Amino acid sequence: MEHKGVTIWFTGLSGAGKTTISKQVEAKLREQGYKIEVLDGDIVRTNLTKGLGFSKEDRDENIRRIGFVSQLLTRNGVIVIVSAISPYRAIREEVRAKIGNFVEVFVNAPLAVCEDRDVKGLYKKARAGEIKMFTGISDPYEPPTNPEIECRTDLEELDESVNKVLQGLEKLGYLS
Ligand code: PPS
Ligand code: MG
Repeated sequence: MEHKGVTIWFTGLSGAGKTTISKQVEAKLREQGYKIEVLDGDIVRTNLTKGLGFSKEDRDENIRRIGFVSQLLTRNGVIVIVSAISPYRAIREEVRAKIGNFVEVFVNAPLAVCEDRDVKGLYKKARAGEIKMFTGISDPYEPPTNPEIECRTDLEELDESVNKVLQGLEKLGYLS
């Protein structure tokens, strides 16, 4: 199936739901025959960006590399799904400008909700000082000012968030 390439970029706090929503979007689009690749921060950090930490410099490097691969795939007609905290607005904008076909999805839930969920137990460790530079606790997160799509995962069911993304893509002309 031939279709337009696009990078769908999920940004948000740890535990906001980036991976969960992106997996469902991936499954739905794959089912419909789209060519898809997924670049998830947690996985990419075990290969493409292995060895990088969480300083601003390293996070920006992580995002730059993910952005570079996304650019190559996007221009070859692939739908690329990125889920990475990507806390810095400037580097997200840099990547957006390079890729062109770029849809930013703000996966938004209040910090208190993410912390309460604490799926991986990382917030507890961050509060205890066992993890330094933890996003939202001891490191910044700059929310998007004008995302194409916003999912409020504290207020919406998973299905609603997934549909929002799919409908958004459709509206923006990326689905055939
Ligand atoms: S970034 O900021 O975009 O480079 O981060 P990313 O590549 O998405 O990696 C985030 C995942 O790493 C785990 N983790 C941390 N997150 C934030 N801050 C600190 N200090 C940290 N240390 C480890 C965590 O599992 C993140 O995954 P998600 O899916 O966001 O919860
Ligand atoms: Mg994740």
